[in-house]
Amino acid sequence: MNEQPNIFLDLSKLAALGEHAIVGKTVRIRRPARVRIGAHAIIDDFTYIACGLTVGRYTHIGPNSTLTGGAATIRIGNFVNLAPGCRLIGVSNDYAGGGLVGAAIPEEHADQPVVGNITLADHVLLGAGTVVLPGTNVPEGVSTGALSMLSPKLQLEPWTLYAGIPARPIRKRESKAILEAAARVLDAERER
Ligand SMILES: CC(C)(COP(=O)(O)OP(=O)(O)OC[C@H]1O[C@@H](n2cnc3c(N)ncnc32)[C@H](O)[C@@H]1OP(=O)(O)O)[C@@H](O)C(=O)NCCC(=O)NCCS
Repeated sequence: MNEQPNIFLDLSKLAALGEHAIVGKTVRIRRPARVRIGAHAIIDDFTYIACGLTVGRYTHIGPNSTLTGGAATIRIGNFVNLAPGCRLIGVSNDYAGGGLVGAAIPEEHADQPVVGNITLADHVLLGAGTVVLPGTNVPEGVSTGALSMLSPKLQLEPWTLYAGIPARPIRKRESKAILEAAARVLDAERER
């Protein structure tokens, strides 16, 4: 249900746009045919999406976030919240390597990219400016402090708050109350 048109694309070109989902007027989606947005999701303004993407129900991507991946896919579950300025990086390069790097380099002269799908399970909360590197799977209920970094090298545990670079565990989160609240949201939706 989008009242206002997006300035970059015709939202009907998305692979899926669920009921009551909102995509901000200035959200840029490079490959809309690879993007599926679930019901009641919100993607806030000035977010840039250049990857395959699925966004779950009641999930919010905060403003000025960046989701890149080229051929990679980013899968985001239900009831996920990304605070402003998060960076989900599905494609990168060997930053200690000897090759030329960057979109401006002709393909035949460019170093091989490092590509890895990213998954954020249900109820993940990313604090402002969190960076997620290629190939990271973030388990259910993980949350991060502002300016944290997650990589596939970390052994992330569900329902745990992490913070820092690289992120370290701070404390466990309360899963029961969160899951009950989500169930109430879904019950209320069914009754409407
Ligand atoms: C992580 C966070 C939730 C912790 O808050 P808290 O429960 O009050 O915890 P504390 O401030 O007592 O910090 C606990 C420890 O984590 C460290 N820490 C807290 N936030 C951190 C961060 N963003 N990065 C790195 N370390 C952090 C503290 O230094 C402290 O370390 P110590 O135990 O070695 O002294 C909070 O600092 C934070 O970053 N919140 C994100 C807010 C946000 O982005 N909101 C978006 C709204 S749209």
